[in-house]
Amino acid sequence: MNVRNITLDVNGTVRSATAEDRTSLADMLRHGMGLTGTHTACEQGECGACTVLLDEVPVRSCLVLAVQAHGRSVHTVEGREGPGGELSPLQRALVAQHGLQCGFCTPGLLMALHYADGAGLSAEQAEEQILPCHLCRCTGYNGIRAAVRSHFARAGQAAP
Ligand code: FES
Ligand code: FES
Repeated sequence: MNVRNITLDVNGTVRSATAEDRTSLADMLRHGMGLTGTHTACEQGECGACTVLLDEVPVRSCLVLAVQAHGRSVHTVEGREGPGGELSPLQRALVAQHGLQCGFCTPGLLMALHYADGAGLSAEQAEEQILPCHLCRCTGYNGIRAAVRSHFARAGQAAP
């Protein structure tokens, strides 16, 4: 068993943890760093629950080894809160449009939508390119679609 010390910039703070070579980034974030907002379900790259941003790009953190993330930048859902735990505009849109129920899929979906927001995708592009990559067993997607449309329509009028 080969254990290494892994150092990441996580949500703007440099943090370290030990991980075996086989440890996934998702497991290191959850169990090594206590960032349990990143969820795991399928652990096969299918469901999107574990999505985080690695060097600003969405990845399935169940498919990335912790050692591959060494020295790189990671953003998790914990980093999306504003000062004092204030919700981000996307989080507020999901709440307002009933875009979540159990919330299990929500952190990964949020990270991908934040990426889409920053990349300048339209609501239609976000619906077509992001939502099919995130399995939600609760909402039927209607509330999620409504949240995406309302948020991206606003973001088109003003900076997010
Ligand atoms: S847990 Fe990573 S894609 Fe499902
Ligand atoms: S809100 Fe429950 S899985 Fe999406």
